[in-house]
Amino acid sequence: MKSFRHWAALYILFSITGCMSTLPELQKVDENQFLDQNWSTEIRQKFYYTPQGTRVLPYDWFVSLEQPTLTFFSDPELLSHGDYLARIGFIPDTNYDSKLNPNNLPIGFALDPDFTDPISGAKMPMLGLTCAACHTAELHIKKNGKTIGIRIEGGPAMTHLADFQKAVGLSVAYTYYVPGRFDRFAKRVLKTAYSKETAKKLKTSFKNLIDAGVKQAEVNDKLELEVVEGGFARTDALGRILNQVFGWSMNNTNPPGPINTANLSPVDAPVNYPHIWDSSWFDWVQYNASIHQPMIRNAGEALGVQAPVNLRKEQDLYKSTVQVRNLFHIEQWLAGEKPFSNGLMSPKWPVETLGQINQSKAEQGKNLYDMHCQGCHLPPMAELKKDLESGDPKYWTKKFGPWLLHLNVIEIDQVGTDRTLLDNFNTRVVKNAGVLEKTNKWIPITEGTHMGPALGKVVENVNNYWYDANNIPPEERDRMNGYRKNLIQAPWGYKARPLNGVWATAPFLHNGSVPNLYELLSPVYERSKTFFLGSKEFDPVHVGFNTGSFSGGFELDTSIKGSSNSGHEFNDGGRGNGIIGPKLAPEERLAIIEYLKTL
Ligand code: HEC
Ligand code: HEC
Repeated sequence: MKSFRHWAALYILFSITGCMSTLPELQKVDENQFLDQNWSTEIRQKFYYTPQGTRVLPYDWFVSLEQPTLTFFSDPELLSHGDYLARIGFIPDTNYDSKLNPNNLPIGFALDPDFTDPISGAKMPMLGLTCAACHTAELHIKKNGKTIGIRIEGGPAMTHLADFQKAVGLSVAYTYYVPGRFDRFAKRVLKTAYSKETAKKLKTSFKNLIDAGVKQAEVNDKLELEVVEGGFARTDALGRILNQVFGWSMNNTNPPGPINTANLSPVDAPVNYPHIWDSSWFDWVQYNASIHQPMIRNAGEALGVQAPVNLRKEQDLYKSTVQVRNLFHIEQWLAGEKPFSNGLMSPKWPVETLGQINQSKAEQGKNLYDMHCQGCHLPPMAELKKDLESGDPKYWTKKFGPWLLHLNVIEIDQVGTDRTLLDNFNTRVVKNAGVLEKTNKWIPITEGTHMGPALGKVVENVNNYWYDANNIPPEERDRMNGYRKNLIQAPWGYKARPLNGVWATAPFLHNGSVPNLYELLSPVYERSKTFFLGSKEFDPVHVGFNTGSFSGGFELDTSIKGSSNSGHEFNDGGRGNGIIGPKLAPEERLAIIEYLKTL
């Protein structure tokens, strides 16, 4: 009877999460190329592995799990094997610092040695994803029979987060239910402390994890929260943060209590992980230009990527695992002390691997850029630098405190790209604020308010809890907050950012619905209606990845909600309805691309 129940639970898990999808074959790299982006090897390593307080699994558990496959003659390999995680898109690191990354996990997998759960108080080393997991790219190019992996710091990762979650969930379930597997796992985790009793205790906490996962999966299924798949390189970050904070985290009890579903909504606006060079100096960040202060942005992201936080009990309300000090360091590496100083710079097109740039064509492209692009995307960085140094800059603003680059936000009716993200962000309201409404100590969250501003307040409270607990004086808080106030806005539009390094950031538009630069400059009817994501093989002509069909690739269908490839169109017929410029001849498109390679 007992084992029947086990298999029934496994069956439920399968039917909810689906079996593991076919993963792409390993895209092997023979050599890495590192571009000069103003970062030393040491800063790169710190960016890859500094924990920010997020949680995937206890570290020892994660490195002890086996891959979710059934093998008959030998034990499966470990889930944490770089070659396996690389098939989900993560980047194995051959030059890793073994102090920061003792198990040679891929880029972005961070060990947090002092992780303390704010709800249960349990302290244990934790594995969490950090910024680099989503904001580091690798472009593959064949050269003399070898595959070179060109590392792009701050570029969009080609990872499949849903498959990663599935792989972890299934590995956990297999470990629990497949005969023999738990014992091997327990021996790896407990090492010399292994005994029948300690293994039994471990099994109980393991079962709690499965129960919580099944419960969440059931709610996901019932409310159809996961109707739109992000696939590789995309996730509905804002939608997930709102669900995590106002949904799952407000229900965060151990053992899991009833789930309050009032604040949950489907995540159906997947976006491409943006590139993050220069973003620290923008007046507003996020695709919809909604967040102003870097610390709010970063701590908000950490909560979205499942840093536990107490939003449930009055006692220790807003206590979290968010590592505010580390977030400050990370932001400093990205930003530098001031614009154009020691922060992360955009990558320069490497001619030795990607080919020469045709200068006269690029010159022609520059003229077209001045005419058709600059009005929205601003002049190239070199000019913006001169502008700032002039002392009386035209493109920079001091209205918020430090000099910040003022970006144009283009109304959705004008730019005409997919609007799902804006609809979601601008209309979701807090339906149940629970204890967050009643607190006297913190900024209260009122039921019925929009979730965007409410999120800003929650994150400010989380940060202030940390500042208080660590006795951070007011002037130090200001510095850590980047000397910026916590402002949130919800415009009906998307921001147009400068295009330096944009050649390394396919797929394009906020939702990644256009595979390469050539298609972005083509009329919508010429753009691919479906294409495959997941390949890292770079196409230096159209400037994007290879998007042909392959086993394990994710087929992006632009007719699905949130994935429309409309708008930002250059076509005949006059402006409006997403047409923002005249139809460009194929040579003109290529000339603009040649120019963009120089930025
Ligand atoms: C799970 C993936 C993931 C992780 C981890 C992550 N980000 Fe992001 N980040 C995103 C996505 C997706 C967006 C775009 C969200 C939007 O605008 O709707 C984003 C947006 C940003 C932006 C705004 C860029 C702009 O110009 O608008 C910055 C800056 C940023 N992230 C920095 C960071 C930092 C710093 C960290 C770590 C502290 C981090 N991110 C961790 C996925 C991630
Ligand atoms: C009317 C203003 C406007 C004009 C003109 C314009 N753009 Fe854009 N551009 C935008 C906006 C707004 C976005 C973001 C849209 C979105 O993500 O939905 C964008 C996005 C992009 C992106 C994608 C960036 C990314 O992170 O994926 C590229 C590349 C780009 N534009 C290139 C160009 C080029 C090249 C031209 C000139 C030929 C041009 N744009 C003209 C407003 C404009």
